[in-house]
Amino acid sequence: MPSLEEELFPSTPGKFKDRNRHFHRCFASTSTMFLWALFLIALTASYLCFQSFMDSGNRYFTATWGGHHWEKNVINSAQIRRSHGGMSVLVTGAAGFVGSHVSLALKKRGDGVVGIDNFNNYYDPSLKKARKNLLNQNSIFIVDGDINDSKLLVKLFDIARFTHVMHLAAQAGVRYAMENPGSYIHSNIAGLVTLLEVCKNSNPQPAIVWASSSSVYGLNEKVPFSESDRTDQPASLYAATKKAGEEITHTYNHIYGLSITGLRFFTVYGPWGRPDMAYFSFTRNILQGKPITVYRGKNRVDLARDFTYIDDVVKGCIGSLDTSGKSTGSGGKKRGPAPYRIFNLGNTSPVTVPMMVAMLEKHLKVKAKKNFVVMPGNGDVPFTHANISSARKEFGYKPTTDLQTGLKKFVKWYLSYYGYDQGKL
Ligand SMILES: NC(=O)c1ccc[n+]([C@@H]2O[C@H](COP(=O)([O-])OP(=O)(O)OC[C@H]3O[C@@H](n4cnc5c(N)ncnc54)[C@H](O)[C@@H]3O)[C@@H](O)[C@H]2O)c1
Repeated sequence: MPSLEEELFPSTPGKFKDRNRHFHRCFASTSTMFLWALFLIALTASYLCFQSFMDSGNRYFTATWGGHHWEKNVINSAQIRRSHGGMSVLVTGAAGFVGSHVSLALKKRGDGVVGIDNFNNYYDPSLKKARKNLLNQNSIFIVDGDINDSKLLVKLFDIARFTHVMHLAAQAGVRYAMENPGSYIHSNIAGLVTLLEVCKNSNPQPAIVWASSSSVYGLNEKVPFSESDRTDQPASLYAATKKAGEEITHTYNHIYGLSITGLRFFTVYGPWGRPDMAYFSFTRNILQGKPITVYRGKNRVDLARDFTYIDDVVKGCIGSLDTSGKSTGSGGKKRGPAPYRIFNLGNTSPVTVPMMVAMLEKHLKVKAKKNFVVMPGNGDVPFTHANISSARKEFGYKPTTDLQTGLKKFVKWYLSYYGYDQGKL
């Protein structure tokens, strides 16, 4: 048996030569393989880097939709299950306060509903997720996506031929506009235009009902606020984007024949509400024993709002969808005039903020610690009051819940959702 040394340095030169050549060949092929492997690893690594770069750019838009299972969910959810008529509605902002209620009401009567929401963190996204779960339990599918994602919207219209769009997605809130103005442009202007572009190109075009706001009345002092009153003096960027929305939708109605209904909501409140709104945050603070800040106008005048209960607003939304009339265009071409409507959806009985607080104290059985502060110039207006005769005439809109009754229902929901545990509230 050759020694290890002989193995490495054989005694016969010829043998050595052969072995040496063999050794070189082996070495050469091993190093080639090694280089190839290195090259392949580098290629894979750079591909993965590129892929993750592309993903991070498009993540906002493409991360969570697509695929066979996803399409099946959309188709099922959009299906109309009424024997006569019925509509298939794309509800934007479906994980939001109003969107979740409208989606449930439509589904309950057999209409097809598909939701879309980007689950942003303007307020606690876990509340949006909880609303989504509620909708899922009622066979409503919510797409996790942004209304600025035109590819996603085109895909949705391709697979589900929506007859109507209930457009509620928006950056809401008056004061937050001073902190994050860009978010209002992103959702309320750019998002709206993206949605309208897809709607006008689709064939058939859907009818669109969308949420404007009472805030468009801005510094208007004539009461009650009627649809024909001035709306060119907005007091906040939020109001300005809603007013812009009214003008933008008018353009799409005029050029492309889209049927448009704009709804000016007046301080909507109720179960599953928005944590950034005063009645909601007051409830939380009162239960936690924290003080609440109550704004007052000039000369210590109390602010007043035409608080409107969510069920009444839902009836208004559905009445608007049912009477919307058809869009006349197809594939981006107008074929005739289409309806363009604007309605106030309010309660017609304003209540002052201190009175609202007194109602909360009664239902919560806790006294509030109130700090009265002069209203800063941050976009709020002193009062709102809706004239609702147009909506009444057009689709029988008639609010039936007063603030006392509505707040009682809200408090009941609040306590059941957050529990009585003060630490959790
Ligand atoms: N609640 C009110 O008192 C009130 C009053 C006037 C007008 N409005 C309008 O009514 C509509 C619904 O309001 P709400 O109280 O339910 O508010 P909300 O914030 O609870 O609901 C809006 C939903 O839209 C989603 N969204 C926002 N931007 C989006 C985007 N770019 N893409 C996809 N989803 C997006 C949000 O995640 C949210 O879930 C809004 O247009 C709001 O401006 C509400």
